[in-house]
Amino acid sequence: MHTLTRTVRFAVGPSADARGVNGFAGNPSVAGFDRHYELRVSCRGEVDAVTGYLIDIKAIDRAVRDRVVPLFVAGVEDGETPASVLRQSVGALASLPAALQSVRLFLTPYHSLEMAAADQTTVVMRQRFDFSAAHRLHSPSLSDEENRRLYGKCNNPRGHGHNYVVEPAVRCKPDALPLAELEALTDRVIIQAFDHKHLNEDTVEFDVRKGGVLPSVENIARVFFDRLAPELAKHSSGAVLERITVWETDRTCASYPG
Ligand code: NI
Repeated sequence: MHTLTRTVRFAVGPSADARGVNGFAGNPSVAGFDRHYELRVSCRGEVDAVTGYLIDIKAIDRAVRDRVVPLFVAGVEDGETPASVLRQSVGALASLPAALQSVRLFLTPYHSLEMAAADQTTVVMRQRFDFSAAHRLHSPSLSDEENRRLYGKCNNPRGHGHNYVVEPAVRCKPDALPLAELEALTDRVIIQAFDHKHLNEDTVEFDVRKGGVLPSVENIARVFFDRLAPELAKHSSGAVLERITVWETDRTCASYPG
């Protein structure tokens, strides 16, 4: 079985111009104060032996522009919620020539809602946060020489810093959890606790002398998940933390559970 994901970008608003030819940046193209959205359409299936395609991406582009963009235009005009328009979009894409798996709507580059074709009663809400922290990778189970060889510059005795990006993925009923509440919770439980800290020195979670774990990006994702999941459950019954993804750089990220 294969999965193919196609990203389609488009603008919605009184000046949006469907004559655009730059699908990379968005078609209809943005003008004035139009809103800009991004949809990631994922399909699952077998690959055609003749074409090598699971689905012709032009069919996805056409379906989004012909059937989904008008739903957004109407939804914005009528004051519907993004989750409601997303559900309508999943319905409008159900007739694609390959099985629709999910549709993920980026409302901003940092905030998205995803709905699976197989479960249109819930959405997965994601929002990105950032924080800065120092850490040092040094395992007490290894010799100083082995630590230097394994971790290289990451074993630097006084540590080094990263601008981390954190993205919780929360499954909930559409519109059940306001974004501001997820933000407040994540800020209190994760960001305030770790921002501008030396993870090994200032936090018990990553202080191996106090039973903590090494602050690798894999462990950071797990520690954050273990902190946020119960707080979210307490705050909002029905909202479930599915996953936390942490980027250490724009080239390295870890998700837990993976
Ligand atoms: Ni590092």
